[in-house]
Amino acid sequence: MPDRFPHGFSWGTATAAHQVEGNNHGNDWWDWEQHPGAIRSGERSDPACDHFQRFQEDFDLLRSLHQNAHRFSLEWSRIEPQDGVVDRAAIEHYRQVILALRERGLEPFVTIHHFTIPRWLAGMGGWADPTSVERFARFVELVVAELGELVSYWITINEPTALVYQSYLAGEWPPGVRDFDAGARVLSHLLKAHWQAYERIKERHPRAQVGLAHHLRNFDPFRAWHPLDRLVALLYHRIFNETLLSSLRRGYAVYPLSRLGQASGPAPSQDFIGLNYYTRNLLRFERRARAELFGQRVNRARAPVSDQGLEIYPHGLYRWLLALRRERLPVYITENGVADATDTLRPVFLLDHLRATLRAMGRGSPVRGYFHWTCFDNFEWAEGYGLKFGLASCDPSTQARRLRSSGRLYAEICRTGVLPDPPAGGG
Ligand code: FCB
Repeated sequence: MPDRFPHGFSWGTATAAHQVEGNNHGNDWWDWEQHPGAIRSGERSDPACDHFQRFQEDFDLLRSLHQNAHRFSLEWSRIEPQDGVVDRAAIEHYRQVILALRERGLEPFVTIHHFTIPRWLAGMGGWADPTSVERFARFVELVVAELGELVSYWITINEPTALVYQSYLAGEWPPGVRDFDAGARVLSHLLKAHWQAYERIKERHPRAQVGLAHHLRNFDPFRAWHPLDRLVALLYHRIFNETLLSSLRRGYAVYPLSRLGQASGPAPSQDFIGLNYYTRNLLRFERRARAELFGQRVNRARAPVSDQGLEIYPHGLYRWLLALRRERLPVYITENGVADATDTLRPVFLLDHLRATLRAMGRGSPVRGYFHWTCFDNFEWAEGYGLKFGLASCDPSTQARRLRSSGRLYAEICRTGVLPDPPAGGG
């Protein structure tokens, strides 16, 4: 295994507009937050980290922590508050955000869509409506015309499969639907939306690097010997990991999306793979769990878990990085992090996942950068402010930011490219 990360490696953190900006009242999430019970403790995304006002100081901090890149997202509902109507001030805001990053030596990685859609689009059926594809493409064209000169790295869509799972299978995110066929339709629209976005960005800026942030998980059978557990794990892997990867690689929608009719796009349509990695799931066959595709998710006994109850499994990142070598594309780890209010797990989490990364790089995995999720505790979707993912805390009532020891550790790694010796118990 190499003893350090290479020179030129991108080090940063990732955020999403709705989770940090505050005052985002024009999208589907804000409306969802008004429903009693939709968000734990009835919390709302305003003020979040008030990052919309405080981005300059926030970027000062990231720079002082030796980061050289930053991933953030554009809020579609700010830029296009009505169908076809552009808010110039919002465009200007994001131009200032990008310039502020550049002035500080932070390379911007711009996500165009990170879960939220404008209210007007939600009213038309959101991603379930086929016209969403063209509307997204039009939005992409606009932001690329306005900001494309300043951006070298675009992430078209964040985690299509997680969005489909949460919004159309589990029903816990807007629009709160539980319907497998609707989920498949939405995934197919997101795939087409990515294809459109890729083409429109490349038309204007052929040298721009364009990717998509994949949520990839390891799905393993709970009982390794049990044929039905194995079957369910394989099914999950096919649907939630492979469908999108394989459709993008081939340039046409594969099963089960192909059931909805033929769809094709450019191949390749990714210049890099964005990998969001958090955990693995063990699956146990459960006859009654029809809506969950007969899979019950369970954790290994005594497995270390985050505050969210997710298994901490750094080896899964190693496995994914090795598996992704077949894509023959550079990889950016566009998210990786842990909910840990007391910062007791995070330092080891960070070191173990970066060690897994370095080991995979030693075996030929072309990893070019790492973005920790996230810099500040923020609005964690349906979980509200309860889950703390920040290298720094952020108290929404005072807006005070406080760096955690994991934040100092990460700064040292970003500065040197070297991982300190494993802490006791790590490995
Ligand atoms: C990812 C999302 C991100 C955040 C983290 C914890 O799946 O992309 O917005 O919620 O999980």
